[in-house]
Parts: sequence; structure tokens; C-alpha cells
Amino acid sequence: METPNGHSQDSFVQGVRLVFRRRQDATRARGTALRIPGAKRFTFDSMKIESLRLKNFRAFQDTEWRNIPSFVVVVGANGTGKSTLFKVFEFLRDCMRDNVQIALHRLGGGRGFDEVRSRSATGPIEIELKFRDDGPLVTYLLQIDQEGGRPIVTQEVLKYRRGQYGQPWKFLDFSRGEGNAVTNEVEDVQDESQLTREWQTLKSPDILAIKGLAQFEKFPAVKSLGNLIENWHISDFHIGKARPEQDVGLAEHLSREGENLSLVVDYLFKFDRSVFDTIIEKLKARVPGVSKVESKVTDEGKVLLKFQDGAFEDPFLARHVSDGTIKMLAYLVLLHDPKPHPLLCIEEPENQLYPGLLNELVEEFRDYARNGGQVLVSTHSPDLLNATELDEVYWIVKRNGYSTIRRAADSEQVSTYMRDGDKMGWLWKQGFFDGVDP
Ligand SMILES: Nc1ncnc2c1ncn2[C@@H]1O[C@H](COP(=O)(O)OP(=O)(O)O)[C@@H](O)[C@H]1O
Ligand SMILES: [Mg+2]
Repeated sequence: METPNGHSQDSFVQGVRLVFRRRQDATRARGTALRIPGAKRFTFDSMKIESLRLKNFRAFQDTEWRNIPSFVVVVGANGTGKSTLFKVFEFLRDCMRDNVQIALHRLGGGRGFDEVRSRSATGPIEIELKFRDDGPLVTYLLQIDQEGGRPIVTQEVLKYRRGQYGQPWKFLDFSRGEGNAVTNEVEDVQDESQLTREWQTLKSPDILAIKGLAQFEKFPAVKSLGNLIENWHISDFHIGKARPEQDVGLAEHLSREGENLSLVVDYLFKFDRSVFDTIIEKLKARVPGVSKVESKVTDEGKVLLKFQDGAFEDPFLARHVSDGTIKMLAYLVLLHDPKPHPLLCIEEPENQLYPGLLNELVEEFRDYARNGGQVLVSTHSPDLLNATELDEVYWIVKRNGYSTIRRAADSEQVSTYMRDGDKMGWLWKQGFFDGVDP
């Protein structure tokens, strides 16, 4: 049956549309708020992951990371799984864009599933994310197993509580390419028994229902999840790659390894001067000697960065300025991106930076998180840790090849010392992070 606005009556999409304005392109709207007249504000800029549970995912054989704050710092020895935590999001993105088989291949190489699943473990790989976007806490569970030599989704569930009490409602519950999906208008439903579920089949058992079912494209929780997974960003900055000039081009956002730094600076200079000016002011305040930064297009069609040192007449080219200057500039560019990422993962930002700058860098991370983007940082640096607060710190403990995540605030000793004015980095160095040293 058709409704006046041309949508079928039983389409649950329609109900969603009434409450949540339609968005054509989640990517474009990154960081923008959706305002719906008369409805609760539904934002894409305050999305926050509250917990992550992993089973059989590389070194994380069975662990849950709870109470994840908006800005979080993870400490761990080499090989404990700091990068693996970030790879979870990369893996989910590959699952969403392609399918689980391709995602496993990207992460694990030729051995795919067998390489990704925790060594000597049995059973499926599981990822469970709990996140919130102003509204209720949403749980997304993805379970992948191997059957007949082929990875398939053995369970995919999306659930959340509509009311204040009781069990969460399952909006999607799939296994092996088929399952139940809710089809009615969610906002009219007062009780879970009123939900209409329809049995649906996906094209193949290795694609995700949140991707394969058109109706979920407009489903707010799925949209939030899709926005997070599509637009999260990892920064693993490599000085050597950021230094050389780049062929002329347009780049609005700093890339993972920073090789497009000169292009982004050039872009901001031309099209977003106030952001550019803020970045340069901050850089000047932090790096002695820098008085001006300019981008210049050469006759050969390259974009290069020139740094003016107040003491000298001729500017220095990016390839001749210090590592710390380039790195600080890169982080300022990343953190002042006019369209922040819902989730930003940063690998060991301390390298090449003068320890005194880490305090301010941490403050920049917090600002980014306050503006709506969640920030996960991995570190080896006591100086960076000294700038953090108790609730912001977690550490990884690896035992017998498997890793677990511990919350600093759960340690009575660390909490007590912090209350007495100690600092996280000192406590770590003095051995109070139980089990962190291999
Ligand atoms: N399938 C697996 N089972 C168990 N451990 C694994 C598996 N795959 C990788 N690892 C472990 O994870 C480590 C790499 O984790 P990584 O996240 O790069 O560590 P970090 O970033 O903390 O240095 C490897 O050294 C290896 O010990
Ligand atoms: Mg690493």
C-alpha cells in the first residue's frame, strides 16, 4: 500500500524518515548536526564508542574495553596490540565496503581468517561495539566464522533500548546470510512485541546485513555506525613522507602518513584562511624561530612549504626544517580539520616532538574530543602520559600471547597516587601499571 508521499506502508524506512531527516551522503555531512524540527537533536558529531569487546581478534583472544572516554591514551609494550585496536576499525570498514572475506584478506594476507583469528584459539572472531549518538546506547555485534574453508557471518545483531527500562530490542538479527529485520515505524512502537519482523535473505553470507539491506540505509543507528566506520581516520605520521614537495593537487584532509601535508597547507591557505592563520599562530607559539609558513607552487608544478625563521632572511624549505616543526605542523593541520573525524586514531604522536610540547598536544587532542570527535592515542612516552588524567589512560597486558586492556582508574594504587598529585608517566615508570612490562 502506498502512502501519500509515495512510500509503502509497511516500509520501516518511512517511519524513520518522519523523525530523522534523510541524508543522501553520510560522508559529506561528516561533523554536521542534523536538526529535525520538534524532534530530539540527532547528531553525527557527538558519536562516541563506549566499549569494544573482542574475541579471537589477533592478540585479543578475549577482552573487553569498557568506559572508553572521548580522549583516551593506550600504553603498551611493543607487540601487545596497540595498532591492532586501530585495525579493528579498518577491518570493519573493509567489511562494510566489500565483504568479510576481502577484509580478512587485507588484514591477514593469504591465510585470511586463519591469520587473523588468535593463534591456537578455536571458535569465531567476534567484534562487539557499543556506541551512542546522543540517543540510546546501541550495540552492534559481528561474529565471523569459517565454514567449508570460507569465512561467513555467523551472527550480526543490532540492538538498543527504546525505553528507559528492560532488555534492548533487536532490530536486526542475522546469521549465514539470512535473518530477521524490523520493518515497522520505530517511533510508533511502545513495546517490543509491536515490532514487525520480516525474514530476509542477503546476496551472500559474507556480506553485512547493515550494508546489504536497503532499508537500513536510513536507519539512524546504522547511519551513525556507517558514518563512524566510513569516516574514522588513522594518523601514523611519517616525517620522511611529509617533507618532500608534492605534485600540484587538491587535498583537504591530511592523509594517514602525512605525505600530502604541503597540499593540505596550500588548500587551507587558499580556501580556509582563518584555520590556516590559527594553525600558524599556534606553530609560532610552540616552535621557536618560526615566524611564517608559506606554500609555493614551483615552475615544475610542485607544491612546497617554506618556513621563515625570524633570524634569517631566506626561508627554509620543508626538507631542511626540523622533524619536530614538521610534525607539530602536521598535527595542528590534522586537529584543525574543519570537518573533524568522528573517530581519530593516532599512533605514537610523541616521536620527534620536544617533550615540553606534549602537554599542549594533549590539550589539542582534548579540544578535538570536546568538539565531538573521539580521539584514541597509542603511546610509549612518559612525557605524553604526564599530561594525561587518570580517566584517560588504559594499558595493555600481554600474557601467554594474549592481550587484555586495563583501565588505570581501576587500579586503586594508581588512583590514590593521582589524587595525591602524582603524574601518570611517573607512575608508569615506577612500575605501578601492573603487568604492562613484558
Ligand atoms: N592471530 C594472532 N594471534 C595472536 N597474536 C597475534 C595474532 N596476530 C598478531 N598477533 C600479535 O600481535 C602483535 C602485533 O600487534 P600490534 O598491534 O602491531 O602491536 P603494537 O602496536 O602494540 O606494537 C604481533 O607481534 C603478534 O604478537
Ligand atoms: Mg603499533
